[in-house]
Amino acid sequence: MDDLKQKYLSQIADAGDESALEDIRLAAVGKKGEVALKMRELGKMTPEERQVAGPALNALKDEINSALAAKKAALGDAALDERLRSEWLDVTLPTRHQRQGSIHPVSQVTEELTAIFAEMGFSVAEGPRIDTDWYNFDALNIPGHHPARAEMDTFYMARGEGDDRAPHVLRTHTSPVQIRTMEAEGAPLRIICPGGVYRADYDQTHTPMFHQVEGLAIDKDLSMANLKWVLEEFFSAFFEIDGIKTRFRASHFPFTEPSAEVDIQCSWVDGQLRIGEGDGWMEVLGSGMVHPKVLQAGGIDPNEWQGFAFGMGIDRIAMLKYGIPDLRAFFDADLRWLRHYGFASLDQPNLHGGLSR
Ligand code: PHE
Repeated sequence: MDDLKQKYLSQIADAGDESALEDIRLAAVGKKGEVALKMRELGKMTPEERQVAGPALNALKDEINSALAAKKAALGDAALDERLRSEWLDVTLPTRHQRQGSIHPVSQVTEELTAIFAEMGFSVAEGPRIDTDWYNFDALNIPGHHPARAEMDTFYMARGEGDDRAPHVLRTHTSPVQIRTMEAEGAPLRIICPGGVYRADYDQTHTPMFHQVEGLAIDKDLSMANLKWVLEEFFSAFFEIDGIKTRFRASHFPFTEPSAEVDIQCSWVDGQLRIGEGDGWMEVLGSGMVHPKVLQAGGIDPNEWQGFAFGMGIDRIAMLKYGIPDLRAFFDADLRWLRHYGFASLDQPNLHGGLSR
């Protein structure tokens, strides 16, 4: 028994890993191990012999088992020490540089103006960019022969061979959303509609796709005075200049009567544009009182309701506010431009936090 004990304790001490240890366990105290074989021999012994050998064998078995457990724990500790030594991390290293995306000025300005008009009770309406000529023209009192159709440089969708219905158009303005919203919601109404519009035009201030925001308010007793107040409130908040002045110039749109083009006060100092000061004027939008025929086309009784509408270029006011010189660059997807003029994604515009970056 002493020999067995010596043999296994020294094997256990020498075991290099857990699988060697398991082999030793099976050979020593497993079901068919040497200690079990010895236990079987107990049956052939005299009772006196058995009284000595039985407890001794059990003690041997216990001793080997606890040597195995101790060695197993020691091997585990050694493995952990080795991992701690070889796997390490320098938490003082600088982080890897990660490029962040940015919010496009058109998206930012759309958020800004939505926040400002929301404060005045306007909700956001939307319509399709591909629309029928009825919504884009006829319903807005622009009949087929009207020169405004030609002036708009409209993109027409192609029809299939033999399909002679009037073609759909890429909307030339956001005004068709006036009709769609009147149809869907009736009066009274207070909505803005920001979105992309299309005209075949291309130079420093024109691109074939650009963005407008339509405004429409319909109620029992709205007038041009309400329109002027809403616009001046908007421009003061948007350009962050108190009491900005607007100038209304008589104009003509088929869908408003009377109509006005609206300028905001500005000046040029050393070739730099300053909004809200001086004695110059900058045209920023078209507007007027909604034409009775337009109300009718939208299913609203012009004898009961009236309202005002306006349409403004979003890209244009973005250029004015953030000093961006060329409209075409808005849509070039040039990363350097986007990083320079873009906004941080956490820079959420709202009236209370201030609208500037
Ligand atoms: N739809 C006009 C345009 O695109 C702008 C406008 C909208 C004018 C609403 C008056 C009223 O030029």
